Amino acid sequence: MRKGIILSGGTGSRLFPCTTAVSKQLLPVFDKPMIFYSLSVLMMAKIKEILIITNEENIYSYKKLFNNGDNLGIKIFYEKQDKPSGIAEALLIGKKFLNNSPCALILGDNIFYGNHFEKLLTKANKNKKNTIFAYRVKNPENYGVVKLNKNNQPIKIIEKPKKNISDLAVTGLYFYDEKSSSYASKIKPSKRGELEITDLNNIYLKKKKLDVQLLPEGFTWFDAGTYDGLLEASMYVNSIQKRQNKMIACLEEIALNHKWINKIQLKKRIYQFKKSGYANYLHKLLKLKFPYK
Ligand code: DAU
Repeated sequence: MRKGIILSGGTGSRLFPCTTAVSKQLLPVFDKPMIFYSLSVLMMAKIKEILIITNEENIYSYKKLFNNGDNLGIKIFYEKQDKPSGIAEALLIGKKFLNNSPCALILGDNIFYGNHFEKLLTKANKNKKNTIFAYRVKNPENYGVVKLNKNNQPIKIIEKPKKNISDLAVTGLYFYDEKSSSYASKIKPSKRGELEITDLNNIYLKKKKLDVQLLPEGFTWFDAGTYDGLLEASMYVNSIQKRQNKMIACLEEIALNHKWINKIQLKKRIYQFKKSGYANYLHKLLKLKFPYK
């Protein structure tokens, strides 16, 4: 069974002073903590065992939010990262948890939303090869960037390229096979002193075991790590939710749909969230029949 890892550490320095006392991924994106969005992606991919990696001082706050995952019908575990030594380090910290299982790694500040996303996740989950997700952006120099050949096969991935090789950013969601921890242990720190996830992707690329899933036009991907990114993401979620009367990243709704929780458990959550808009939405779910498409 595929397991999930959410990397939710870092200093959040681009958001200081907002993140001086609070983990960035616990800041609100409109009506819920940022990490709900990445957790919702793993849950949509039907992943039930999830490791959250964060700084030692923040573990308590995450445990207060999710406990052991029981409320959502999943299992949540916690590990610390001493300092932000690179995204690929998550696979070393998570080695014991993964225990040679395939995994999906997601960054706690990445937000994905769009039609048929669940289908793309199911495809990646079933794929024997490894999958990364690419998104067309205006500012590729700020990301890992992938160049594809005519058949949409990756030929090159470069971290923050100075010269434009393509405008396809590699997003912070990676589906790997059971070898990810072992390959990650071969990576050497880059010039910026990090174990780069791009280096791991290049290992899989060289072995011809890497597929790139293009996120379709009209799809939305935010990296909510800056003031603008955070505000834009909040405004986006607010406007979509108002228009379509459906919440983005409602964890209980996903859990109900997979039959991981029942309505009695849902009622407990409503009680817990009291008079919030989130609780009101959960209240509406009580009247619906699950699972639905
Ligand atoms: O957002 C996608 C991009 O994420 C990819 O396109 C790049 O290939 C990848 O390297 C990464 O780019 P950044 O250099 O911009 O990542 P950043 O250092 O901002 O870290 C991303 C998130 O991961 C951030 O929320 C903090 C967290 N993080 C990062 C590192 C390096 C950790 O929790 N621990 C870490 O060691």
